[in-house]
Amino acid sequence: SKIHSFLQQLPKCEHHVHLEGCLTPELMFSLAARNGVTLPDPDTRPEFSSAEALYERYEHFTSLDDFLSYYFIGMSVLKQKDDYEALAWEYFQKAHADGVHHAEVFFDPQEHINRGVPYETVVMGFKAGCQRAEREYGMTTKLILCFVKHLPASDASKVFDLAWERGDFELGGALHGIGASSSEVGPPKDMFKEIYATAHSKGVQRTAHAGEEGDPSYIIAALDAYKSQRIDHGIRLIDSPSLMERVVQEEILLTVCPVSNIKLRCFDHISQVPIRMFLDAGVKFSINSDDPAYFGGFILHNYCAVQEAFGLSVTEWRTIALNSIQGSWVEQDRKLEME
Ligand code: HPA
Ligand code: ZN
Repeated sequence: SKIHSFLQQLPKCEHHVHLEGCLTPELMFSLAARNGVTLPDPDTRPEFSSAEALYERYEHFTSLDDFLSYYFIGMSVLKQKDDYEALAWEYFQKAHADGVHHAEVFFDPQEHINRGVPYETVVMGFKAGCQRAEREYGMTTKLILCFVKHLPASDASKVFDLAWERGDFELGGALHGIGASSSEVGPPKDMFKEIYATAHSKGVQRTAHAGEEGDPSYIIAALDAYKSQRIDHGIRLIDSPSLMERVVQEEILLTVCPVSNIKLRCFDHISQVPIRMFLDAGVKFSINSDDPAYFGGFILHNYCAVQEAFGLSVTEWRTIALNSIQGSWVEQDRKLEME
């Protein structure tokens, strides 16, 4: 349709996609076979009997933690540098087809390291995928190291120190910032406070998942304890008008993932995602895919779902696209090129 092609052609930036969340059941089963990784037994877990059965199960996530239990099993098939490169490359092909010009992508090294995959293997594989996208598509890409809240903060510190000592956060290095994800309600809201303070003092860019399932106090912790420059999700801002005002004043970009919010039961329908409210209040946000292989669609699917529910004007779409360019962690020249 006409609007679909307008949204496809709109220069898009993606800021909230987990590379491990791009692992389709097809690739999962093929890597499991190749790497000799045992997935759950189909006799006790019938959803692991086929790609179709897994897709069917993905239609019925009950919460963030229910989704995460599949996400962390899925990524256990990744072993070799080539696996990481192939996964990243699959994502970039989809993103390119959807009209993404610039992508900032998350990955969770702690999970891989705990399974015995060296940090270097993970980073070199993902980086190779990023470089291929830059070479073949002229996309710009940034890798964001994500800490996971269900594992000890001391593990996260070790990964940060290793990355820092390797020079990965320096100009021309593999990494461009840090993030925090996984279970929200439960772990301490400020569990990575020391790491974020160190990152801040070293000039490393910072974002954090907050206000997805958790109340606005999680967003306050990300802003105050982490000095986070962006908030990933942030939808629970709707429960605090004063905090929403602060986010507007401080020009914090929210990376909103509408389809994810429906799949993980944050809202019943896309029309309840506060797109209209954020536009009217002047909250800057980008629209993103989060875990596209698990939620049934990449970034354009999210743009189209928002259009279907809200019927935004061309001017409003241009505002959204412009805010997402300006909120990107990329050089000024590149921003001007994309505008
Ligand atoms: N929230 C928290 N952690 C995650 C998500 C998410 O949406 N996706 C992958 N890890
Ligand atoms: Zn996420």
